[in-house]
Amino acid sequence: MSETVEKKKRIFSGIQPSGNITIGNYYGALKNWTQMQDEYESIYCVVDLHAITVRQEPAKLRNKTRELVALYIATGLDPVKNIIYPQSHVRQHAELAWILGCFTYMGELNRMTQFKDKSAKNESNINAGLYTYPVLMAADILLFQTDVVPIGADQKQHLELARDIAQRFNHTLSDTFTIPEPYFGKVGARIMSLQDPTSKMSKSDANPNATLSLLDEPNILTNKIKRAVTDSVGVINYTNEQPGVKNLLDLYCCGTGDSIEEALAFFEGKNYGQLKASVAEVTVNELKPIQDEFHRLMKDKKYLDDIIHTNSERASFLAEKTLRKVKKKVGFIV
Ligand code: TYM
Repeated sequence: MSETVEKKKRIFSGIQPSGNITIGNYYGALKNWTQMQDEYESIYCVVDLHAITVRQEPAKLRNKTRELVALYIATGLDPVKNIIYPQSHVRQHAELAWILGCFTYMGELNRMTQFKDKSAKNESNINAGLYTYPVLMAADILLFQTDVVPIGADQKQHLELARDIAQRFNHTLSDTFTIPEPYFGKVGARIMSLQDPTSKMSKSDANPNATLSLLDEPNILTNKIKRAVTDSVGVINYTNEQPGVKNLLDLYCCGTGDSIEEALAFFEGKNYGQLKASVAEVTVNELKPIQDEFHRLMKDKKYLDDIIHTNSERASFLAEKTLRKVKKKVGFIV
């Protein structure tokens, strides 16, 4: 009897090592990654090239990059089964980005909402890297012939651009790139600020009470959740008219794995204080083991550096296969 071994589909995703990684990054991206690692061949990058589109302190960036590698592992990503590495260690990202930039229209980049938001926040440093950032993101994804990209809702527009660039390249120079699909979790694709629940929770928020950092101590997490902005309705509903309560329910469901319906049934007749206490408990239970493992890993710099080096080589090997193909297609001598 003949046996067919199906090739696993490939995942690529990344997080910038800037600011403090939030529970939004965790529930929107990282937690889904850990749940997908058996089913897919996965590549998880710490995107330090992206981070320098906004000024970073060099020593801090280096630490944050190592910390994020440790956090990936601490959340449960296996560094042998998956490829985990810093983007700057694999030069093919930047090389492919240049080539893809020549297949991207300025009109497309002008439409990117994140560029508009980020330029408004960094008026003194609207650099070309910030503008061409989505091209680098397309290169990250296309370099690995990625099938699926697990991301939060804020990256949807960038992913669509990556698909457009891939299709344009394939159409102009014959089939080269796999066209990637996005993957969003059932809940948690858009965790909102605790202080302004109509805007996204963001690592760069200046108000520390607005975000839950993955590394906040349990009492800090609890206090921030207790101070979260709600409303004067007084009833626990899941609606856009009550964005603060809706966000707390999302946080609860992301932690417990319950559906929104199950959570609404559980909280029926309960008040906001009880909702917040439950969210705090669930959040602390979710993050405490990750924090303990993170602190243990950070004491072993050699282990982390070994992972970084071996995994960068694995990534580079795969990336080179695509880059060589691309170079040939555009007419470079290879
Ligand atoms: P970054 O570093 O801003 O965020 C990392 C991941 O976290 C998700 N995310 C959220 N999800 C839910 N609620 C939130 N409040 C929230 N905030 C952030 C993001 O959607 C993202 O999935 N450009 C990317 C990094 C990147 C990348 C890539 C991602 C570079 N190259 C290739 C995928 C594939 C970024 O800045 O993510």
